[in-house]
Amino acid sequence: MKGVTLPTETVFVMEMSPIKFGLGATDEIGYDARRLGVRKVLVVTDRHIAELGLPERVAGLLGEQGIKADVYDGVEVEPTDRSIEEAADYARTKEFDGLVAIGGGSAIDTCKAVNLLTCYPAPLLDYINKPVGKGAPVPGPLKPLIAVPTTAGTGSETTAVAVAHVIDQNVKAGVSHRLLRPALGVVDPLNTLSAPPEVTAAAGADILTHAVESYTTRPYDARPKHHPPDRPAYIGANPASDVWCEKAIEYVGRYLRRAVLNGLDLDARVHLALAANYAGIGFGNAGVHVPHAVAYPIAGLVRDFVPPGYRTRHPLVPHGMSVILPAPAVFRFTYATSPERHLRAVELLGVPVAGLSEAERREALPGALIALMRDIGIPSGLSAIGYAERDVPALIEGTLKQPRLLAGAPRTIGAPELELILRDAMQYW
Ligand SMILES: [Fe+2]
Repeated sequence: MKGVTLPTETVFVMEMSPIKFGLGATDEIGYDARRLGVRKVLVVTDRHIAELGLPERVAGLLGEQGIKADVYDGVEVEPTDRSIEEAADYARTKEFDGLVAIGGGSAIDTCKAVNLLTCYPAPLLDYINKPVGKGAPVPGPLKPLIAVPTTAGTGSETTAVAVAHVIDQNVKAGVSHRLLRPALGVVDPLNTLSAPPEVTAAAGADILTHAVESYTTRPYDARPKHHPPDRPAYIGANPASDVWCEKAIEYVGRYLRRAVLNGLDLDARVHLALAANYAGIGFGNAGVHVPHAVAYPIAGLVRDFVPPGYRTRHPLVPHGMSVILPAPAVFRFTYATSPERHLRAVELLGVPVAGLSEAERREALPGALIALMRDIGIPSGLSAIGYAERDVPALIEGTLKQPRLLAGAPRTIGAPELELILRDAMQYW
């Protein structure tokens, strides 16, 4: 309607899980579960983490407080709707009044979904965001969930989202609702010491893209005004999310290379654990945009790439790798929307920007990301994980199934823009 100006948003919301952080924080989990009123726990983890012994130790700590624990260790890396339904089927055979997720994003997201599917039974697809699923809201409160991350990456211990690969549609999609947020995140950097360099690198890349995407997403006050019940979980960049994201970018710049080089560098592990949580708080409110939207089909359409360092024989693209691969091309594309934010991110990564020409300024953030990717062993572009120009139409189609994420892009993005980005992302060096 010509001449009508719609009001823009004036309100932002910051929500996060309570967090217990620090070396040895896990030792207090019995106390915390009791405090949350839990008597019988379902522990959700994967087989590899179970073999390393942490779930058994947590079950013992819970037992000391008189809390019974059943351990489910069938979580799949990069979970599918089928693997989540299987976990929920197992859970329905057990009695529990609280859940503990132990692992990376795969375990925590599976646990969130199990909590939802056992509290309010329905096919997972009913709850998955449109257009992949039906986008049904979470009907009511869930059981208390304590999330214990073993990687510094997803920040899933503080976010309201769970992501799954939907097999039939060959695409990744999420359930997002504030009631999915864990009741407590126990972030103990000691639990990340066992992550191999490749896992540390991909998880750290996820932190960085969360933070830079949230920092550059369309600001909350450039979006339409919402009625309170309709205000989405991802509200856009705002003064509070900026604070969390800036610190996360700075810590990744200073500590990720160190943690990949030497997994026992405790100082680096502590700061990356902080960074993952800070970025989780930032993006859990501001929201991510194009790199995460493109990442979903990058992961979903994988053919034969089996990542080194991961305990899988199945082809898969680790989430962190799938988000960092398109990131340099995306931030080259978004630079003009907020040059000052893109350059600030570069500075926070430890790269000076004073005295650069305009052309160099435009290239500064892609350049800083590419330098980091090379140093931590991320592949050189989409072609290095098996994609070619002929895959671009399918990758575009998959990305367009993420309208919720694309809506956060700081400039309008459709098939022609995605084509530019995907071609640019094929090979960086
Ligand atoms: Fe992510």
